[in-house]
Amino acid sequence: MFIYVYISVPVRKSQGILSSVVASESESLERARGLLARAQRVVVLTGAGISTDSGIPDFRGPNGVWTKNPEAEKMATLQYYVADPDVRKKAWRNRAEHAAWTASPNPGHAALVDLERQGKLHTLVTQNVDGLHQLAGSDPAKVVEIHGTMRDVECLACGERAPMERVLARVKDGEEDPPCRTCGGILKSATISFGQNLVAEDLVRAQLAAETCDLLLAVGSSLGVYPAAGMVPIAKESGAALIIVNAEPTPFDPIADAVLRGSISEVLPALVRAS
Ligand code: APR
Repeated sequence: MFIYVYISVPVRKSQGILSSVVASESESLERARGLLARAQRVVVLTGAGISTDSGIPDFRGPNGVWTKNPEAEKMATLQYYVADPDVRKKAWRNRAEHAAWTASPNPGHAALVDLERQGKLHTLVTQNVDGLHQLAGSDPAKVVEIHGTMRDVECLACGERAPMERVLARVKDGEEDPPCRTCGGILKSATISFGQNLVAEDLVRAQLAAETCDLLLAVGSSLGVYPAAGMVPIAKESGAALIIVNAEPTPFDPIADAVLRGSISEVLPALVRAS
């Protein structure tokens, strides 16, 4: 049984290795482009940072949801959602107003579609639940939504699953905490909250991808939430090269072969552009 566990890994701010890896933007970009050109089996791990340029806030960045309201992270835990109707009512209001419903993919998402069309992208594991990779044109068969999706709803009692739109229509008609119409159970978006099990086959698929890739590209993630972040050391220990694209330092920068700072929707197209 896999439990979705958040382990906050303190980021070591000053390390000599990091300065040599992020010595200069252009050097890092050229090094990363060389690694990507040689790679045949690329696995990508994306986080909330790839969607911020589409208007969807991340969690731990300077304007992140948890950064601005640490209390909110506690509420994103299954036990509170199940125990407290007020938490559920607020969650349904937030879902109805979520930026994802009007968001469009950005050049960062498009760059990963480009990488797929170059025949290099083996698997795209995303921690995001917004569905923007598929909307951008990524092959759904290659996408592993390891933290689930906000575009479906499921009943915590009977497991029935349906498109989110149906329940949001009930919320907009005034149902503050709509129960499952089949069994009366509690409904929740089909995302994985803290304290909830991840889907075993998704985890196995993500781990196998990390073990067998020749390059892991981590994009827009603080790489502090497990088991998703565990893909990074697995890939490195399996001999893969590691490229990290992120505005802020991550715990794995010291073992990366290239670290690219800057905005993902600018950096990723420059990285992926076929030479
Ligand atoms: N360009 C580059 N980096 C960016 C950009 C951008 N435009 N926008 C944000 N970032 C970076 C932030 O600096 C931050 O380090 O993306 C990172 C996002 O990190 P988090 O907010 O922690 O998101 P993520 O790593 O996906 O979180 C993992 O935690 O709360 C849970 O379930 C949630 O799936 C999520 C998981």
